[in-house]
Amino acid sequence: MNLQPARLITGKLRLPGDKSISHRVALIAALGEVSSEISNFSTAADCASTLSCLRELSISIEQKQDEVVFAGGQELSAPRGPLDCGNSGSTLRMLAGVLAGHDLTAELTGDASLSSRPMRRIIEPLEMMGAKIESNDGKAPLKVHGSSRLNPITYKLPVASAQVKSAILFAGLNATGRTTVIETSPTRDHTERLFNGFDVPVTTNLDHSVTLWAQGRFPGGSMTVPGDISSAAYFVAAAMLLPDSQLTIEGVGLNPTRAAFLSVLTSWGADISTTDIQTERNEPYGTINVRGGLSGTTTDRILSGSMIPSLIDELPLLAVVGSQIEGGIQIRDASELRHKESDRLAATTANLREMGASVEEFDDGLAVAGPTRLHGASIDSHGDHRIAMAFSVAAMIAEGETEITGPECVAISFPEFFTLLESVAQR
Ligand code: S3P
Repeated sequence: MNLQPARLITGKLRLPGDKSISHRVALIAALGEVSSEISNFSTAADCASTLSCLRELSISIEQKQDEVVFAGGQELSAPRGPLDCGNSGSTLRMLAGVLAGHDLTAELTGDASLSSRPMRRIIEPLEMMGAKIESNDGKAPLKVHGSSRLNPITYKLPVASAQVKSAILFAGLNATGRTTVIETSPTRDHTERLFNGFDVPVTTNLDHSVTLWAQGRFPGGSMTVPGDISSAAYFVAAAMLLPDSQLTIEGVGLNPTRAAFLSVLTSWGADISTTDIQTERNEPYGTINVRGGLSGTTTDRILSGSMIPSLIDELPLLAVVGSQIEGGIQIRDASELRHKESDRLAATTANLREMGASVEEFDDGLAVAGPTRLHGASIDSHGDHRIAMAFSVAAMIAEGETEITGPECVAISFPEFFTLLESVAQR
């Protein structure tokens, strides 16, 4: 994919449903007593993986464009073959939690990237609860032998991970009592919000731990999924970096555990506002308005510590933006980025350097000097959707043409990305 720089970004967008919410609501609807209609369901290939695994588990799902209908009142049954989670860590980890709480055996597999990612983080707590999980030395494929009478546990997460927290909570639905997950840094809270929104109470305690009383199933119900804020991030960044841009994104999720990048960009001088805020099943959503250009002096240029989990998927993009910030920026405490769809610290460093930025790479982060005039280059996406999209934003502000190799990987979270980018980019 060859991209030309843009003069400015202008227009109004509405985005497909949030990927994180769509995975969770699909699992909730699959465990629902009555039928559930989910509108604006994510178009991400990752969410299609969740739906196809559920179908393999005998859940009846009908799909018409962005509307997905679950029949309700169905039982999961043992699949005939392995469940292919594709590239999706969310599918594999959260579904492992669901399967742990059912009296069946199922094998979860994935592509080369997913098969190289760490899974002991879910194996350990799910085995403490009484499931048996065979693995390839802590990696996929995982063979889950579940039980509908799991032990309730109190578990302190060794890594900040919403997927692990959610796997334990899904398993906790079929424990014989109270399940508590203790987080040291708060991660995205969609599972807690949606469990409550679909009438399975989860309490968030003062110390940020979350507690669930086993309840087996959900009553079921319908939802319109808010637009994906992580997909919105690329357009927000491109618009703020090109003066004279004016962009509106409507109906986009604004969950505070996901929207932290908006505050970071504002603290770096961006003109961003949110309006028309409403909620759907406890999930806030609204309109994001961006005017191009940076103003004011930037003080808070180090992203570290407990901020990292709520910025996790936006960090490659924030590094790209950081190359345009007076004094540059630093990211620390983010070694988890090495365990995503690619090693995102290495990929971001190498690609920023290709475009002329000065970057220092650390074990747990990076420092980018700024402001630097980027130049077009050949960018290796490493088959990682977030790297491809972050560097497409870099291409918009660079001098000359940029080539993104393996651009089709954007379909993992956002198949419409390049078409929508062209629709708002003015040259
Ligand atoms: C996700 C949690 C994060 C994030 C991923 C989606 C989720 O992963 O990076 O894109 O939906 O719970 P971790 O739980 O591994 O941090």
